[in-house]
Amino acid sequence: MQATNQARSPRNILITGGAGFIGSNFVHHWCGQYPGDRVVVLDALTYAGNRNNLVDLEGKANLRFVQGDICDRALVDQLFQAENIDTVAHFAAESHVDRSILGPGAFVQTNVVGTFTLLEAFRQHWMNRGKLESDRFLHVSTDEVYGSLEPNDPGFSETTPYAPNSPYSASKAGSDHLVRAYFHTYGMPTLMTNCSNNYGPYHFPEKLIPLMCINILLGKALPVYGDGQNIRDWLYVGDHCSAIDTVIHRGQPGESYNVGGNNEVKNLDLVHTLCDLMDELAPDLPIRPSRELITFVKDRPGHDRRYAIDATKISTELGWTPSVTVEVGLRKTIEWYLSNKDWWEPLLSEEYKAYYQKVYA
Ligand code: NAD
Ligand code: TYD
Repeated sequence: MQATNQARSPRNILITGGAGFIGSNFVHHWCGQYPGDRVVVLDALTYAGNRNNLVDLEGKANLRFVQGDICDRALVDQLFQAENIDTVAHFAAESHVDRSILGPGAFVQTNVVGTFTLLEAFRQHWMNRGKLESDRFLHVSTDEVYGSLEPNDPGFSETTPYAPNSPYSASKAGSDHLVRAYFHTYGMPTLMTNCSNNYGPYHFPEKLIPLMCINILLGKALPVYGDGQNIRDWLYVGDHCSAIDTVIHRGQPGESYNVGGNNEVKNLDLVHTLCDLMDELAPDLPIRPSRELITFVKDRPGHDRRYAIDATKISTELGWTPSVTVEVGLRKTIEWYLSNKDWWEPLLSEEYKAYYQKVYA
């Protein structure tokens, strides 16, 4: 069963980070599902934010885009009040592990201080509105807060102890604890999702899947960290959006829900699949077979070995299951990158090249 579209009262939703990868997919999802809702996007447009992710929604009467920082309390207060926000879907974050290793400060600022700022502002606003039970604050988090699994360990469940290993996951864990505390201390209707690695359209080319696809198209080396045997669970972004929709509508305040794709894959196997799909789908590749481009590079410091999700709770309590297998999802994703060169080409900027040099030199 997927997200609800049953009779419901319209919502005024603030989507933070709505110009990023998952956030922009969610804005598309929400506008498509609930055209009568007011949608306000707050995004600072960091290197990862991109107005082009929302270009097809421009001019839509119910949608407002605001460029701003979630750490700006006055701005957040003003938006909550002026738009009479009753629902927050909080995606805004610094999201890339490799960048968190190079510079953790921005991660603490946005992920911890930014989430705290939103929570405080929403608490005040929610009290002013009379603590309505139907209000919702949904915090989007990650499975990385649980740390790393051994090969035969069961997947992460909602009761797995937190053991974050990177500055990224530590900052997300900090924000998760604040969200939890706002429910327990103030009764604020917070909810949380912890999901596995997403992939799909509008994914910035610093993460594994878009980076590999674009490097194959350019005939560049495919950098596989360490021995390539690290395992991730892969979740198609459209499935993640329907899970968040489900949790907003049917989740129990104070609860967290793990979201996964039932697709555990070793990195090297994933790269092989990507190479084979690209060989099949892309007509003019500079080098083929693409597998020739695979290059093993120095491992990421503190690289988590395995993530896996036990998504029993969201499936049994809320009726959500993923709809896309990794084979189908990867094909859809590659087709999107092949048809949207105009989207990704400008992202390979001087800043991107400098970042690339730092990580892969
Ligand atoms: P992303 O990096 O693509 O997008 C983040 C967005 O947040 C960007 O648009 C950026 O401009 C905006 N932003 C950053 N700092 C901001 C600030 N201070 N104020 C306002 N906006 C700011 O990230 P994503 O991959 O779309 O991830 C979205 C959320 O999902 C994050 O909270 C992330 O931790 C979580 N998550 C992501 C994945 C994944 O595989 N990508 C997996 C699990 C959880
Ligand atoms: P990534 O997409 O950065 O997501 P995360 O670190 O949040 O899981 O990386 C996915 C996996 O791919 C991870 O084990 C690191 C690995 N990886 C590489 O081997 N090479 C790369 O160039 C990148 C970006 C990631």
